[in-house]
Amino acid sequence: MQSILDNREALRAEVEKVAEVAGYLWQKGWAERNGGNITVNITEFADREMEALPAVSGPKPIGTTLPMLKGCWFYCKGTQKRMRDLSRDPMAAGSIIRILPDCAHYEIVADKPVEPTSELPSHLSVHNYLLSKGSPYRASLHTHPIELVALTHSRKWLEKDAATRMLWSMIPETKAFCPRGLGMVPYMLPSSVELAEATLRSLDEDYDVVMWEKHGVFAVDTDIMSAFDQVDVLNKAAQIYISARNMGFEPEGMTEASMKELSDVFGLPK
Ligand code: 13P
Ligand code: ZN
Repeated sequence: MQSILDNREALRAEVEKVAEVAGYLWQKGWAERNGGNITVNITEFADREMEALPAVSGPKPIGTTLPMLKGCWFYCKGTQKRMRDLSRDPMAAGSIIRILPDCAHYEIVADKPVEPTSELPSHLSVHNYLLSKGSPYRASLHTHPIELVALTHSRKWLEKDAATRMLWSMIPETKAFCPRGLGMVPYMLPSSVELAEATLRSLDEDYDVVMWEKHGVFAVDTDIMSAFDQVDVLNKAAQIYISARNMGFEPEGMTEASMKELSDVFGLPK
């Protein structure tokens, strides 16, 4: 079967990165059943012939109007599709959509009419926000990392920046490679526009990774591998915290002075 990826090596490489990350999510146990979703703004890879391709679906409402997305293209995981299947065949477990000129509807263009993720309102609102800020970020990832989600079952870690400080203090790499920390969004219905709006507010407080209480994380970065890396370092820190607690003690954590030194020496934003 022909694919939109044929003879588009840069686009194919971008979609293959999504497939590689989807495999990691499954291996880590963060992607039970259809858990999690990925979208990537692939507009920079769209060419003239792609513009002329017919849609394989009718226009569908996004649920909100997103002016920065006019004419943009996205690769999206399909709703109810499994990450472990996506890792083998990204164009069977996902699809490519383009946003229509009214900025309120999209159509599926390739390869098959796979309906995009139910979290599309959050993903597209975030891409709209990133473009409005002139951000170079093009990828967003929602996943269910076990230890990070477990933390959100305690009020203590839901306080603003309480989890960030603890996670940063477990191992220096956490602050170095997730330098904006972990935003917190209180529990809201999955796939709701309210959850999308709360996610935007949290990203706007200057986080790249936002925790959805008792659900999962939402992360953004330049590409999907980098978004995955930010979540991976945070979850590693949570695992170190839990390992220490399992050994029967509260981990000491790096000192405030050590963490400030890291920011000074490596020029970190916080
Ligand atoms: P989808 O299968 O619709 O992407 O939903 C998975 C999920 O994690 C919802 O929060
Ligand atoms: Zn989810």
